[in-house]
Amino acid sequence: MKTLRLVTLLLPVAMICFALSTAKAVGAQAGTDKLPDAPGKPVVVKVCTNCHDSSLMTDAPRTIDGWVDVMYLMKDFGATLTEAESKTVLDYLVTNLALVELNKAEGAHLQLVFGVDETVAKEVVAYRDKQGGFKTIDDLKKAPGLDAAKIDALKERLLFK
Ligand code: HEC
Repeated sequence: MKTLRLVTLLLPVAMICFALSTAKAVGAQAGTDKLPDAPGKPVVVKVCTNCHDSSLMTDAPRTIDGWVDVMYLMKDFGATLTEAESKTVLDYLVTNLALVELNKAEGAHLQLVFGVDETVAKEVVAYRDKQGGFKTIDDLKKAPGLDAAKIDALKERLLFK
């Protein structure tokens, strides 16, 4: 009698667990490609997903320097890319995925991240150096030529170092 009650109690629990685990597996499959849709993505998919899937690129965040290192590592692992493809991939990664060390980033990278032209990027760098670096989001919003809404949209990726 006692065992029967235990079974009636545990069966629904087991069924719920099973349902949850299947849902998770299906979800994981559907969400395999988490690469943001943006210019350069087709090239990234072409040259970076023939040895492993793109989850290696989206699972863990990396700084711009971290991505530069990854590019060297992949070439050591045998990735063959033309110079143009290499630039497209790195630009895509910097623009869409990289963590940005704001006080170290060079103008060319700020251009990509904030979608500004060379002149604005140079002004931002000059302003940053004059201020002794950005310490908060509000500091950054005071930089000439940067859009506050864009800064807010990027905030998960901005590092004040
Ligand atoms: C010739 C095969 C090959 C190609 C092409 C390739 N990779 Fe890799 N990649 C590897 C191997 C091997 C590893 C390490 C083993 C693993 O984790 O699967 C790896 C690991 C990685 C990692 C994880 C590194 C870490 O620190 O754990 C990232 C990120 C990555 N690749 C990005 C890329 C990008 C971006 C490209 C396109 C430029 C690319 N890969 C193209 C073979 C390749």
